[in-house]
Amino acid sequence: MLPRLFLLHFSDTSLLAEEGERLVGFLVGFLSPSRPEEAYIHFVGIHPDYRGRGLARMLYGRFFETCRTRGRSVVRSCTSPVNRGSIVFHQRMGFQIEPGDGFADGVSVHTDYNRPGDPKVLFMKRLEPC
Ligand SMILES: CC(C)(COP(=O)(O)OP(=O)(O)OC[C@H]1O[C@@H](n2cnc3c(N)ncnc32)[C@H](O)[C@@H]1OP(=O)(O)O)[C@@H](O)C(=O)NCCC(=O)NCCS
Repeated sequence: MLPRLFLLHFSDTSLLAEEGERLVGFLVGFLSPSRPEEAYIHFVGIHPDYRGRGLARMLYGRFFETCRTRGRSVVRSCTSPVNRGSIVFHQRMGFQIEPGDGFADGVSVHTDYNRPGDPKVLFMKRLEPC
């Protein structure tokens, strides 16, 4: 999920959460070079001991602010249909699920998204302007 290129080339729009010197969470996102109104959150992770405290909400909020100040009005992300926690989390963050071409466990998915047999749930959120 995180080849080094993400850390090298998207560091100005990515975030770390630290307690002291301990890394407890991260968000890797970027402003789309191809879609000037859009930004994309590639991956977020919170240390298991630190979940449920609003850390991911905080990282998303900071990323949304970066998007707004840099003229982006749409944020996209995606996850696997088995990742129910991620699906609920994104819905709590105000993302809509983009209708796909199939369903998995009652959730709309885009089948064969990255490769055959690899369905994904696609999220989209519109940001209010500053
Ligand atoms: C998903 C993940 C990033 C959430 O991080 P977190 O810091 O625990 O989330 P927060 O505490 O900020 O929660 C924000 C909201 O989402 C909800 N939420 C978070 N995780 C949830 C879960 N597993 N199930 C249901 N709801 C969840 C919270 O209840 C909260 O809702 P509220 O503020 O409206 O009450 C974290 O569980 C994680 O790192 N998971 C493993 C990696 C992963 O799946 N990343 C996403 C891949 S795209």
